Amino acid sequence: MLTARTIEELRTHCATLRTRFGSVGLVPTMGALHEGHMALVWAAAADRGGIVASIFVNPLQFGPAEDLARYPRDEAGDLAQLAAHGCHLVWLPNVATMYPPEDATTIDVAGPALRWEGDARPGHFRGVATVCAKLFGQVRPDRAYFGEKDWQQVQVVTRMVADLRLPLAIVAVPTVREDDGLALSSRNRFLPAADRQVAPLLFRTLSLAARRLALGEAADPVLEAARASLGDAGFVVDYVALVDGPTLAPLARVRPGARLVAAALLGSVRLIDNMAV
Ligand code: PAJ
Repeated sequence: MLTARTIEELRTHCATLRTRFGSVGLVPTMGALHEGHMALVWAAAADRGGIVASIFVNPLQFGPAEDLARYPRDEAGDLAQLAAHGCHLVWLPNVATMYPPEDATTIDVAGPALRWEGDARPGHFRGVATVCAKLFGQVRPDRAYFGEKDWQQVQVVTRMVADLRLPLAIVAVPTVREDDGLALSSRNRFLPAADRQVAPLLFRTLSLAARRLALGEAADPVLEAARASLGDAGFVVDYVALVDGPTLAPLARVRPGARLVAAALLGSVRLIDNMAV
């Protein structure tokens, strides 16, 4: 497996991969990799192009009160996992490469970036869209792979690519879960043992709500019941909402493409999850 730490190395190695495989797939990450990230690498492998993963903890998507400093970092472990899963090239830019001192350009996304995570984390999606646009320009992939775990993020990036007519396809990969339903996340390691027992309730509550909604019940009472049972279990609920999948606009009732999205704090750990209805 190759690594690149400068734009020049990246260009050379990407050209090699493109010659050898005919196309290139990019898996953008912030490291602290787990099986959820590896599902994206598998998806890229299935498409048979060269596989590039990027690892960059993007300061622009963290709010002032957020956990940038305590974001887990394990470059050696990440590289070992990527190599074991058949990744061809890892792009490891530093902050100065991604945000040169004279940097003056960011990408603002409205539409799907409004509401939910956009409300809870002002500026977050501006940071995500900006870093993804930079990564797409650097790697010039034919496809980029994103996890449905971060449903709103996939929609924001898909919207940006469509609006800017960027020449790549966004591929969404289903959420990888623990056996008890908890979505894999680098934040799960911060859950104390007692909270780890409670955490799968987020998935179970959403599953129950999804079943009721699919049977045609109105959203309001179902979502209220979901919030109440999460509250009873010790979650501090940020939102539980039924939305139109691509636009994230709230829905009063299920319809094709509807999605349940939720975020809740368990102690100091903010968990998000979502599922199709
Ligand atoms: P990060 O949190 O490292 O996630 C990288 C990718 O892995 C994202 O597309 C995310 O949705 C996916 N992922 C995480 N957990 C997953 C799971 N349990 N199942 C499936 N996919 C999962 O998301 C980011 O980084 C950043 O915002 C980034 C896109 C890299 C921009 O900085």
